[in-house]
Amino acid sequence: MPWPAGRRCEESNYIMIGGTLLFVIATYALMVWAFFWAKKRYFHIPVMASIMLIDLFFPVYLVLNKDWYRRLIEQEEILSFMIWMHFILVLVLYALYVLQILTARKLLKGDDSVRADHRAQGKGILIARALVILSAAMLIEPVDQ
Ligand code: HEM
Repeated sequence: MPWPAGRRCEESNYIMIGGTLLFVIATYALMVWAFFWAKKRYFHIPVMASIMLIDLFFPVYLVLNKDWYRRLIEQEEILSFMIWMHFILVLVLYALYVLQILTARKLLKGDDSVRADHRAQGKGILIARALVILSAAMLIEPVDQ
């Protein structure tokens, strides 16, 4: 029996969302590893910088690949608390990234006075990023709607 066209579209969409979520969870595991391996600069710096870049371009990827107009405007999800909470958490994460880069630059110049700040902000980043991923997971559409 042929696969119904609409169903197929939803199915592949679901698999794509599942894939992106798995990818993001993998980058989280890598970030935790780089957090505890901060002394190994050759590992810590490229890993953290790459994850920051991935996070920066993730919204671009979503806009290009998802039917955001249908969800946000047609389904009026723009009015949902969950979307706004997710959005605000992303902004918090970006703000922490800016602060983290500023302290990282000082550490690289040999200024150790910011080490404790860099560490504390690092913990904040791990918490904020976990919450971003969790709220993203809760926004995934079920397949059979
Ligand atoms: C582009 C981004 C980043 C750069 C360039 C950077 C750079 C550095 C440098 C140079 C150090 C000192 C390493 C040493 O002791 O020799 C360091 C330490 C550290 N970084 Fe980063 N970092 C970045 C992002 C992050 C992020 C996102 C986190 C947390 C999620 C983080 C957590 C830490 C921690 C916990 C330490 C150890 C601090 C301590 O010694 O108490 N860093 N980082």
